[in-house]
Amino acid sequence: MAYRHEIIEKNSVLLVVLSLITVAIGGLVEIVPLFTIESTIERVQGVRPYSPLELAGRNIYIREGCYLCHSQQIRPLRDEVERYGHYSLAAESMYDHPFQWGSKRTGPDLARVGGKYSNEWHVEHLKDPRAVVPESIMPPYAFLAGKPLAYADIGDHLKALRVTGVPYTDEMIKEAKADLEAQATPDADTDGVAGRYPKARMGDMDGQPGRITEMDALVAYLQMLGTLVEFDKVQPGSLRQ
Ligand code: HEC
Repeated sequence: MAYRHEIIEKNSVLLVVLSLITVAIGGLVEIVPLFTIESTIERVQGVRPYSPLELAGRNIYIREGCYLCHSQQIRPLRDEVERYGHYSLAAESMYDHPFQWGSKRTGPDLARVGGKYSNEWHVEHLKDPRAVVPESIMPPYAFLAGKPLAYADIGDHLKALRVTGVPYTDEMIKEAKADLEAQATPDADTDGVAGRYPKARMGDMDGQPGRITEMDALVAYLQMLGTLVEFDKVQPGSLRQ
């Protein structure tokens, strides 16, 4: 046996070929079973695709590079759970393309920042972080409140995400523009958007009720982060759909 092994060790081409075969068998054993299961992510009650306004806000979050300083992933470690809340579930970012887990925390994790502050707080903080948190090193984003949100093509954004597997329906795509306007406008008829996107926060977000700005969209996005799954109402194990 040792002698035969010597043949392989002295013949580099044979060694490479046999190594590749061994690695290929190992790879197949790991990968093939994944094709037989429907999904590697467990579905969880409450998780839904982003509403058009939230999605527009998310696009701004990505455009401005907020992910360079903020993660959106609470690890199952005691100090993180005590600071930020229930650890993140895979399903909570299943409709994120690209995901925003991040790898850097210059500022705090934002996975559950939704509902932690008022809209006014977010607007003040984004305009001038040091006005509300004196020791903050976050850059100001006051210009967002002055920029009208460009959303004429929001339906196409939903369509593109549907190609990647996000379950937007034809109706959601058709109504995307109207839903965005209804969500951001005080006293609008919100039955449609509320039915399609449960728990979406309605109304003016940026303190300028007459117009829909990039600030409206970003605050709508921040305010929904981590709010879809009601951890206090469901028992672990009963989360699955
Ligand atoms: C240079 C790094 C940096 C960038 C870029 C940055 N932030 Fe921050 N952020 C911080 C720091 C540091 C804090 C903690 C101090 C504070 O609250 O201002 C913070 C705090 C926050 C908070 C409050 C979180 C909490 O739980 O108290 C929110 C919300 C937030 N940032 C949103 C954003 C958004 C949205 C963007 C992009 C438009 C952004 N940040 C960009 C560094 C950054």
